[in-house]
Amino acid sequence: MQLVTEDNITDLAAARWGTAHDPRTAELMGALVRHLHAFAREVRLTEAEWMAAIGWLARTGQISDDKREEFILASDVLGLSMLVVQMNHHLDPAATPATVLGPFHIAGSPALEYGADMSEGLPGTPLYVTGTVRDVDGKAVGGAVLDVWQADTDGNYEAQLDVDEARLRATYASRPDGTYCLRTIAPLGYSIPMDGPVGDLISRTDISHFRPAHVHFLVEAPGYERLITHLFQEGAQYLDSDVVFGTKAELVVAFEPRDPGPTPDGGTSAEPWLLAVYDFVLQPTG
Ligand code: BEZ
Ligand code: FE
Repeated sequence: MQLVTEDNITDLAAARWGTAHDPRTAELMGALVRHLHAFAREVRLTEAEWMAAIGWLARTGQISDDKREEFILASDVLGLSMLVVQMNHHLDPAATPATVLGPFHIAGSPALEYGADMSEGLPGTPLYVTGTVRDVDGKAVGGAVLDVWQADTDGNYEAQLDVDEARLRATYASRPDGTYCLRTIAPLGYSIPMDGPVGDLISRTDISHFRPAHVHFLVEAPGYERLITHLFQEGAQYLDSDVVFGTKAELVVAFEPRDPGPTPDGGTSAEPWLLAVYDFVLQPTG
């Protein structure tokens, strides 16, 4: 007979989960049990607090759907997402660093031509982002796919709105010489969604719930590590307090003001515009 005590419950539960058929699952579940129990012991968790935590987790699941990823948001604000990124991307120092994916990426964005406008019809200051995709040895990477997405000037991503068409998201291919160019509107800093259980917890703290202005990139090319990153606007508010810990010095880029006139895609802008120049550096796989 197995007599359970406060002292032996952790070993009993860890041993039970250690029977998982897949060795990695056994390792993960054993460690999870031990760390969860250690947390409960350290804070002397009460039954009311345990029930409150269960309720919070349930609400996090209930508010989530195929467009709203409240569990990713929770992981982001706890710093867990960024820790996992850091541990899994020990890239060459010359490579562009990775940062969080965030909860608003939508797969299957339309493919646009060099310099085409992914912000068509939306208000905002025109922003051209251009440069090259190359590898850590400086070799041009042609045919890389840059999947780009961002929030509008109200701080909303397409995934937060009820729209039928792709909005502020597109894919662009680098040309054979590695060059790429996209047109969008200048992003602004924005608040993460505060109307759910994550916002409820944050509002009980002094944590700033804002992210600095940024554009998201997912860059893929055969033979290279997939790169998930952002470009942040130099001088933007909240660079030092990003609520999801996503900022890195190497990803901060000047958005240089330009007068009306020629633009990097060979066209002309009738209004003032901004230019961001950035070279994405990919690391070979393996
Ligand atoms: C984002 O940048 O889209 C984002 C990342 C993490 C949490 C919320 C938003
Ligand atoms: Fe974002």
